[in-house]
Amino acid sequence: MSKSKLIRSRIFCRFQRHFHQETRQNILNKMFFKYHAPGWAKSLKHIPEEKVQLANGNTPIHKWDIPGVPKQFTLSIKRDDMTGSTLSGNKVRKLEFLMAEAVSRKCKHVITCGGLQSNHCRAVAVCARQLGMQPHLLLRTDIQDVKDVGCQGNLLLDRLCAAKIYLTPRKSPYLTQLKPRMDKLAEHIQKTSGELCYQIPVGGSNSVGLFGYISVFEELLSQGVQENFDDIVFACGSGGTAGGLAIANFLTGSKLRIHGVAVSDDATYFHHHCNEMIEAVGVSARSEDILDIIDGHKGEGYGISTQEELDFIVKISSTTGIMLDPVYTGKAVKGLMHELHSNPDMFKGDRILFLHTGGVYGLYDGRIEDTLKVAGSSTDRVTVWTNKDHVPTLS
Ligand SMILES: Cc1ncc(COP(=O)(O)O)c(C=O)c1O
Repeated sequence: MSKSKLIRSRIFCRFQRHFHQETRQNILNKMFFKYHAPGWAKSLKHIPEEKVQLANGNTPIHKWDIPGVPKQFTLSIKRDDMTGSTLSGNKVRKLEFLMAEAVSRKCKHVITCGGLQSNHCRAVAVCARQLGMQPHLLLRTDIQDVKDVGCQGNLLLDRLCAAKIYLTPRKSPYLTQLKPRMDKLAEHIQKTSGELCYQIPVGGSNSVGLFGYISVFEELLSQGVQENFDDIVFACGSGGTAGGLAIANFLTGSKLRIHGVAVSDDATYFHHHCNEMIEAVGVSARSEDILDIIDGHKGEGYGISTQEELDFIVKISSTTGIMLDPVYTGKAVKGLMHELHSNPDMFKGDRILFLHTGGVYGLYDGRIEDTLKVAGSSTDRVTVWTNKDHVPTLS
């Protein structure tokens, strides 16, 4: 290359780098804003000062005619599965506050943890990249050999975001196994690169992430939730959604009853965790009095699906066009249906709002394929059409 060409190419590269940084800064500036808590939440302690806009808010609420709802109840759905595409579901609501803190602390790395197919970890990977940070994911699994990890479901997106993935034993409790590893990793990164790390606990459920669903409650109020509904039901996995909604409902006069269907752990665990969050933000209430955790619908365990659960997911998608995921929303809606029939008095009224918390990529992990391909079943609706004059029949 001639000398003048070399100089021109260097200038161009410098310009490109500068342009890239400028655009990223502009995007960041547009996404960030001061967070003003609603009047009813002003008494809370540790209100975050900033929020970064990651979610498409005002997600729709509509009637949901799923088969088998008892006559006295009406069921509606709030579509928080529509907060975005790759960045979607309830996690994004929490990450609006958590990632704002990460950016304002000038962190270059984000470390978090979850199951191998964690929706939370995928959402962290996507938004970390969008905000110019390196994601590090500690994923719980029985897999020992990295060659067996694969690229399905959420993992595909984790990998597309070039997240650094660390496999940890499947039964690693957060406090005794994952948190110490996250601390060690953060310390190592800081020592070797001088760059700061931001740590997000499992599910993003701490007193910062809690503001995600406190802020969603403001949206729900503007959508007339107090006038039109009696009960809100959703999947409870790490407790942040439950904590935020329960606190907000309490602060606004407890007009609704808030029910989390436990898909991992149990009511004792969630009340304990929610009480910690409630205490951290200075609310004078006890989780047991403001939140109903519904046990008994975990099935065979967190993340494990029974055939009945998979069939239920197919029944709902094939009749209503709404996708439930195998780990959270599938179990929660199945549990809700069970309770509507067997325990109707647990609900405050008959107008039920199910909060869909997302998780669609969990459907792409391969486990539901066999259910769809059962030959002769109602879902086996594939045929070959070779002769254009003859119309094949499908059930
Ligand atoms: C799709 C989906 N629904 C529900 C939950 C549970 O929410 P939370 O962790 O706030 O209890 C999670 C994550 O844990 C999730 O990914």
